[in-house]
Amino acid sequence: NSQQALVVAIDGPAGSGKSSVSKEVARRLGAAYLDTGAMYRAVTFAALESGLDLGDQEAIAEAVRQADIELSVTTEGQRVVVNGQEVSAQIREPRVSESVSAVATNLAVRENLVRRQRAAIEQAGRIVAEGRDTTTVVAPDADARILLTAREEVRMARRGLELNNTQSAQALAKQVSERDAKDSSVVNFTDAAEGVILVDSSDLDFEQTVQAVLATIHQQAGTV
Ligand code: DC
Repeated sequence: NSQQALVVAIDGPAGSGKSSVSKEVARRLGAAYLDTGAMYRAVTFAALESGLDLGDQEAIAEAVRQADIELSVTTEGQRVVVNGQEVSAQIREPRVSESVSAVATNLAVRENLVRRQRAAIEQAGRIVAEGRDTTTVVAPDADARILLTAREEVRMARRGLELNNTQSAQALAKQVSERDAKDSSVVNFTDAAEGVILVDSSDLDFEQTVQAVLATIHQQAGTV
């Protein structure tokens, strides 16, 4: 029933396949899709563009409070607009990936973005939200909550594929694990919180992972 309200929260580390899987699961459920990481990336991009010092916690928090962020899903994929500028491609650039943790560990930033994420979920009604803290902070009351993981070497290999090996695999692996380490200083996305079901995709291909996530959603939320 594509009209029925349903909130699904999916968290996981970088390279777990969480974005592509969440997007496909949302499509199959006829649900909206919220990429909370894209919001952190969008405000990081805006801060870099304005030449702000990412270490200036108060200036960054204020810029985020003032930021206008629009996320939408089109046939071409996700569209991200910040302060009127389309930044869908730019937010995936290495300079943003390298700087995003500095912004995402700013607690005032998190407070503001979490509020917006909750509003987006409420407005959508039927939605799959994905990130690092959607199962625990953003939507702890979600109908289904999943932690999608994969062994470290699998995650690194997937990241390498995603970025078309434009950076050396080793440098990339180091970057990803450093980012996870920084991010996990404010959010625990390594262990499943109570009521959150762990899905390990290490030995599953994309379709099998989608099926495992859908089965877990049915198990937790019943008929969807
Ligand atoms: O999922 P991603 O790689 O696009 O996320 C980008 C960054 O944002 C990542 O370094 C962690 C942070 N993030 C977060 O702290 N909380 C979220 N709910 C989502 C992302």
